[in-house]
Amino acid sequence: EKQGYDTFMLKEIHEQPRAVADTLLGRFDEGRLHLDELQTDEREFGRVDKVFVLACGTSRYAGMVAKYAIEHWAGIPCEVEEASEFRYRDPILDPHTLVIAISQSGETTDTIAAALHARDQRAPVIALCNIVGSTLAREADGVLYTHAGLEVAVASTKAFTTQIVGGLLLALYLAQQRGRMYGSEIEDILGRLQQIPSALEQVLELDGEIRQLAEQYQAVPYTMFIGRHVGLPIAYEGALKLKEISYLHAEAFAAGEMKHGPIALIEDGSLVVALAAAGHVFGKMVSNIQEVRARGASVLAIGTEGSTADLKANADHVLTLPEAPHELAGPILSVVPLQLFAYHIATLRGEDVDQPRNLAKTVTVE
Ligand code: F6R
Repeated sequence: EKQGYDTFMLKEIHEQPRAVADTLLGRFDEGRLHLDELQTDEREFGRVDKVFVLACGTSRYAGMVAKYAIEHWAGIPCEVEEASEFRYRDPILDPHTLVIAISQSGETTDTIAAALHARDQRAPVIALCNIVGSTLAREADGVLYTHAGLEVAVASTKAFTTQIVGGLLLALYLAQQRGRMYGSEIEDILGRLQQIPSALEQVLELDGEIRQLAEQYQAVPYTMFIGRHVGLPIAYEGALKLKEISYLHAEAFAAGEMKHGPIALIEDGSLVVALAAAGHVFGKMVSNIQEVRARGASVLAIGTEGSTADLKANADHVLTLPEAPHELAGPILSVVPLQLFAYHIATLRGEDVDQPRNLAKTVTVE
């Protein structure tokens, strides 16, 4: 059932174009975005004045991307939090607070408990979930399903990219229901998102180049990932993937925070992976890359066609991705080279990538 791939993780990485296409399928009709499966009162969405996104691990990083989209398109304040923290504080919620609980499995104890905690305070809860009929899906007021298909590898890949798609759809839906965006505008964005599967195919072609980089860096004891705006959740996710399956130390920081502390870690031989797509924060990323390089780090930059020329003058290695059809959708593409980088480092080091030590696919205990 690995369909010719050595591992489930590699198979699932390669399934992302299909998974993303399926999650986008059939959402727009007669000038409106429809999320019928949500099964909630449509008008309720027009009255939402605050959003909390609750999740754990990789799913929370997908939620961070959703936050940028919800604030940008729907104009609603949004907070993203670890479900395990949310459930033990006193968040202020009311019926106009929408809670989006993101979970691939729908069985993560902390995420379910956080959703129930919110529901007790009469806040409507939407689950963004991959498993039909899972506990979270049943407990929530409404569900938006990702169509990643069964994810077997412990390290999440295709579930993550489809969660980002789901988050973008929810943001557009909120914008529509609040009258912030019109059908034609939403249709234009959805049309552009349809280009993502073929762009993902292009990104997957970088595999050989990424494997060579992994060979070169497989013994680096510490890797720092930096990003800004939507590049930041991807920096977090890149660091998590690397530590989960290769057991090497990896951390991520908002690039602008470097000089407030983390840059002290940089010395000759450090590896810094920089998320540096073309866009409104690109110039700032270049300054951050220059700063770490001046202190001896080797920099692997994840750029796009529009940023690659500047990156080549500043970084040691540049991976050039196609330009995303929208800046907010960039993470769906930019996470893929980081998944492959972690994958190759782990396999070169002889680790079992599908079953990493100490981890379970679904965390049903606190
Ligand atoms: C990392 C990973 C975990 C999960 C987390 C939440 O690769 O898979 O961090 O994302 O345990 O799981 P779900 O989404 O099932 O609630």
